Amino acid sequence: MINKRKISIIGGAGHVGYPLGLIFSSKGFEVNLIDKNLKNSNKINLGKSPFLEEGSEALLKKMLKKKRIKASQELKSVLESKYIIICIGTPIDNNLSPEIKRFLNFFKELRKYLKKNHHIIIRSSVYPGICEKVYNIIKDKNKNLSYCPERIVQGKSIKELPNISQLVSGKNITSIRESANLFKKICKKIITVEIIEAELIKLFSNAYRYVHFAISNQFYMICRDQGLNFFKIREIMKDGYKRNAHIPMSGFTAGPCLLKDTMQLSSFYNKKFSLGHAAMNVNEDMPKFIYNDLKKNIDLKHKTIGLLGLTFKADCDDIRDSLAIKLLKFLKNKKIKILYSDEYYFMKGSITKKKLIEKSDIIIISTPHSSYKKIKIPKKKLLIDIWGHIN
Ligand SMILES: NC(=O)c1ccc[n+]([C@@H]2O[C@H](COP(=O)([O-])OP(=O)(O)OC[C@H]3O[C@@H](n4cnc5c(N)ncnc54)[C@H](O)[C@@H]3O)[C@@H](O)[C@H]2O)c1
Repeated sequence: MINKRKISIIGGAGHVGYPLGLIFSSKGFEVNLIDKNLKNSNKINLGKSPFLEEGSEALLKKMLKKKRIKASQELKSVLESKYIIICIGTPIDNNLSPEIKRFLNFFKELRKYLKKNHHIIIRSSVYPGICEKVYNIIKDKNKNLSYCPERIVQGKSIKELPNISQLVSGKNITSIRESANLFKKICKKIITVEIIEAELIKLFSNAYRYVHFAISNQFYMICRDQGLNFFKIREIMKDGYKRNAHIPMSGFTAGPCLLKDTMQLSSFYNKKFSLGHAAMNVNEDMPKFIYNDLKKNIDLKHKTIGLLGLTFKADCDDIRDSLAIKLLKFLKNKKIKILYSDEYYFMKGSITKKKLIEKSDIIIISTPHSSYKKIKIPKKKLLIDIWGHIN
């Protein structure tokens, strides 16, 4: 029997599904996190957050105690839930094309368990048009399909979700109404749009950020090649001149979403999203640029380079699509002596930041973790700080 207070979240042990499940459970829903990742599911059931997610562990413990959340591998358990929310990954392949088949195959599997009165909500960031394809797979069993994309910043969901607007779109009036009512329980503002609009808004937002960061990365490169200080120039650009107020800092523009969604958008636009490709060339080239920039004046054969930070962004424990890792691999391939350290992620061979600073001739801030703000680098060592983090 379908329970109106029950929500199943597929991909429930992931970065989107886990905090979303916690927030729904805190509003009185009984949440069933379904995920094929056994390790992360077990952690959740033991009251441990599977990754850094601000404010989540205390809430998890509270919800487990109230028996309002649990993780499992049983797709069949969706049968009892009124709402089924899909938060599984939507990766791109080696040719930068979305792995659509894998996503659609999931719905062929889910279809077996669907009943007429289920409400299915896709939350992953998808290739535009995919919701229509999903609908064609499930429509003879269930017509209540919605697309309500996730728009949080990773690691900050618990704080952000209630405060950002929620896009709601669906295949019929019932699905739109049901999804809007559901998300009203956790968000302040609901915006109803067409499915294709929601699909594009999600990708446009990430592509916009990706291109935006690439501009500063390219400016950084131009400055380095001219022997100039981008951070000083950036400050002066903004000084008394509001139109430049939003120019970002340079740095590694990485992680599992921005590049991936820019390329999903490009695939949708028959690979003609030239701005997106240009941004990718700049952002992904940063590790190589750092190497070429260093070797202009230094014989790197006799130097030890230390990388401070491995994760894809600050104060997080996720190395997915990290450019710090790309830089590490690049330098290793060049047979350069390399040391590495991270505050939140342990990789075989990692050392402490203190040891790294002691033993390296060149120190690169590869991830701007907050704790690096106060480090002291001896004057005789060279510091490369592409983020202007501690300079
Ligand atoms: N990470 C973010 O900050 C963020 C923000 C907005 C949107 N998104 C989008 O949300 C989606 C999920 O991203 P994520 O970062 O949470 O990924 P993730 O890898 O952290 O989580 C996905 C989870 O889905 C599980 N999974 C995959 N296939 C499954 C299946 N068939 N059955 C059960 N579980 C399955 C995986 O084991 C994993 O735990 C992506 O489309 C992403 O682009 C992510």
